[in-house]
Amino acid sequence: MNYLGLSKEQVAPTGKALNQLLANYHIYYQNLRNFHWNITGEDFFDLHNQFEELYEDAREKIDEIAERILTLRLRPMSQLTDYLKISEAEEYGVVIDAHEMVEKLLENHRIIIASMRKVISEADEISDEGTIDMTGGMLSSFEKSSWMLDAWYQKTKKTTPAQASNN
Ligand SMILES: [Fe+2]
Repeated sequence: MNYLGLSKEQVAPTGKALNQLLANYHIYYQNLRNFHWNITGEDFFDLHNQFEELYEDAREKIDEIAERILTLRLRPMSQLTDYLKISEAEEYGVVIDAHEMVEKLLENHRIIIASMRKVISEADEISDEGTIDMTGGMLSSFEKSSWMLDAWYQKTKKTTPAQASNN
C-alpha cells in the first residue's frame, strides 16, 4: 500500500538528499567524539561537555533522518565505508588546538546546513511536508548551535602580531 501517495520515482531525489545528509551527519558525529576525547588544556571543561551535548543531539538526529528515509519507503545508507565515500563533511584527524577544533566543526556545520537546505528544496518539489517539517526543525536548532560555537570561536580568537600592534 502506497500510504504516502508518492511514487518511488517522485521521492528518489529527496531520498538521495537525505542519504547525503545522513553521511555528512555521521562524519560530523565522529569528529565530535574525536574532539570530545582529545580536548585538553584550559578549555577542557567547557568544550568536553559541549562536544558531548552536540554528539548526543547528532545521534538522535541521525536516527530521525534514517527513519524518515524508511518512511519514504527507501533505504538509508548504513555503512561507514559508504558514508566516507560520499560525505561532503570532512573527517578530521587528531587536532591539538581547541580553537582549531571549533573552527573545523563550524566548517562541518556550514556543509550540514547546506545539505539540510538541499533536502528541503527537493522535498518542496513534491510537497513532501513531512520531510520539510522534520528538516526545518533540525535546521533551526542546528543554526542555533552554529551560532553558539561561533560565539566561542570569536571570543577565543587569537590576534596576530600585526593586529595586536594596531590596538
Ligand atoms: Fe565522555
